Amino acid sequence: MSSSIKISPSILSADFSKLGSEVISLEKAGADYIHIDVMDGHFVPNLTIGPEVIKKLRPLTKKTFDVHLMISPVDNFIKDFANAGADIITFHPEATNDTAKTIELIKNEKKKVGISLKPKSKIELLENYLHEIDLVLIMSVEPGFGGQKFMPEVLEKTRNLYEIIKKKKLNVDIEIDGGINFENCNLVKKAGANIIVSGSTIFKENKGNLKKNIETLRKN
Ligand code: DX5
Ligand code: ZN
Repeated sequence: MSSSIKISPSILSADFSKLGSEVISLEKAGADYIHIDVMDGHFVPNLTIGPEVIKKLRPLTKKTFDVHLMISPVDNFIKDFANAGADIITFHPEATNDTAKTIELIKNEKKKVGISLKPKSKIELLENYLHEIDLVLIMSVEPGFGGQKFMPEVLEKTRNLYEIIKKKKLNVDIEIDGGINFENCNLVKKAGANIIVSGSTIFKENKGNLKKNIETLRKN
């Protein structure tokens, strides 16, 4: 497990009319990854962007594209997102009927594999696959929308997951996503998360000063 903190701004809170320049600004502001939320209006009650948009963003930055798929069924789209330029492909176990197969599909594309847990989803859903994946994305809001309130009950799950990963001596990152702000980011780091996703805080705090907001999330 990496001990350094990575910040993965969610472009869900960006201005979609100028997504390209927003991504370039995030890179300049010190983002480590670019978090891209893909929603299908079925797995979650909202619609966002698909592989064509990601493909257009890909030449603009070398930053890791951290693609969070909230689509079901997920398998048929993995190749499209891989070809579009995703570096990490994260799916929800509820969006597939064969988690092992979905992991294999992502690995066949030579991409990093993430599994995401909704606030009420239990670690048991992915425990058997931990040795095969690169990242666990813990949702600290119900997936679907930016700007929601952080659910502190996921801290215990984060701590438990951290202990399991440590005990098994695995190299699996813990990413946390939803409602992260300057106050609670310290709690999630202490619980064991090492990749912090943030949309509203990064794009809206301090009049949208991306650099200041990324730095503050990193050091708080
Ligand atoms: C919600 C998304 C999040 C969201 C985070 O379904 O997965 O990535 O954009 O946004 P904030 O930081 O505003 O909660
Ligand atoms: Zn997300």
